[in-house]
Amino acid sequence: MDDLKGQPAQGPTAALDWPRVRDALRGGHIGGTGAAFIYLDNTPSTNTYARGLAREDLPADSVVVADDQTAGRGRLGRGWSVPPRTGLTFSVALRPPAADSPFGNGLIMAAALALYDLIHDDLGLRPQLKWPNDLLLANRKVSGILVEASGAVRSGDSLYIVGIGLNVNAAPPALEQRATCLAAALGQPLDRAAVLIALLRRLDTTLADLVRQPEAIWQRWRSTLSTLGQDVRVGLPGGGAVSGRAEDVAPSGALLVRDAAGHLHTLHAGDVTLSIPG
Ligand code: BTN
Repeated sequence: MDDLKGQPAQGPTAALDWPRVRDALRGGHIGGTGAAFIYLDNTPSTNTYARGLAREDLPADSVVVADDQTAGRGRLGRGWSVPPRTGLTFSVALRPPAADSPFGNGLIMAAALALYDLIHDDLGLRPQLKWPNDLLLANRKVSGILVEASGAVRSGDSLYIVGIGLNVNAAPPALEQRATCLAAALGQPLDRAAVLIALLRRLDTTLADLVRQPEAIWQRWRSTLSTLGQDVRVGLPGGGAVSGRAEDVAPSGALLVRDAAGHLHTLHAGDVTLSIPG
């Protein structure tokens, strides 16, 4: 395995050494035999690019990676913007094993756990996993995931697009107080190619687990989430918010929040902040 904490060979803002990544993936599923590996110097959004290709004939397990995203998209209609060549912005196209499987919900969990394992096990840091799929270091966001369907997935011939943004050697300057990067936590820049190889291997593993034992992935995600047991305020996509104790998560991925009146709210999407004790 590449030394993950190795310094970038050509300086921290060199282009991604994508031929090395592609060659390293040959033995796995993602980016492996039959899959495409597409490197773009820049593109508006790798998720948008991959969805466009998926409507034609992008093979499952293909990877689209960009060194610069000019209109990166985040959850809940937000953007995702990082300085060019400093982080990882990529999308993976995945086919559900069966049209009616719980694969779609589980993808968010499997992707979040792959990032957690990379940051915790491979890099020796202490990430927090905030519902549904934000990875934080010392309460600042280091990574986010955007899962989209390329079409009517239930028809069986569409793909899910899992887009991942990981701040490796810089955080977005505009989000100084709310975002961070791996290099800041480790005190040194990292080789982005080595990080991408390790992350895609982690994703291969959690996705294989998801296909074999979706229940176990849910249980692991549930026990890894730092949100559970906390007093939270969840901003809802349509406006408004729910405040209460984050009690649990459902197998669908929904967050279960009990408010002060004792009502249990099942929240499928939202933006969690910790309630300030009054
Ligand atoms: C979030 O935390 O809101 C999700 C951020 C997801 C960003 C990634 S970067 C690669 C892929 N392409 C996009 O446009 N978005 C995702």
